[in-house]
Amino acid sequence: ERERTFVMVKPDGVKRGLIGEIVSRFEQRGLKLVAGKFIEIPRDLAEEHYGEHREKDFFEGLVEFITSGPVFAMVWEGQDATRQVRSMVGETDPAESPAGTIRGDLGLDLGRNVVHASDHEDPGSNEREIDLFFDEEELIDYERPD
Ligand code: CMP
Repeated sequence: ERERTFVMVKPDGVKRGLIGEIVSRFEQRGLKLVAGKFIEIPRDLAEEHYGEHREKDFFEGLVEFITSGPVFAMVWEGQDATRQVRSMVGETDPAESPAGTIRGDLGLDLGRNVVHASDHEDPGSNEREIDLFFDEEELIDYERPD
């Protein structure tokens, strides 16, 4: 099923100059970029985005980290885009991510894992995250040859 999914390059990835590398991987895979913005996440948005982790002991550190610098937020579209992106991103922990995945190749540790991507095991998380970060008119529809 054709769908849209949310991805963002986290502050560690931005500061290390990895935006282009990451965008390039999704482009080469044939996914279509439908939205992108370079922003500093306000604290309230960070807390809402990571709401499912509110009770975890790493929550405060997670919010501090994601608001510690700019992020590059994106929406990518394609066949099973959420699952496809997830497999390209790898496991949460870079140490458990195979070479060839974004986190396996570029991630440093559990916190500094370069990218966030919607969870394919959490149905609706893609739509929820897209709505949180983008207005409808920021999602651009155009033809991309396959
Ligand atoms: P992500 O899946 O993008 O969103 C939740 C983030 O929480 C996850 O990436 C990790 O970066 C972070 N995270 C998960 N577990 C831990 C942990 N035990 N300590 C610190 N950060 C964590």
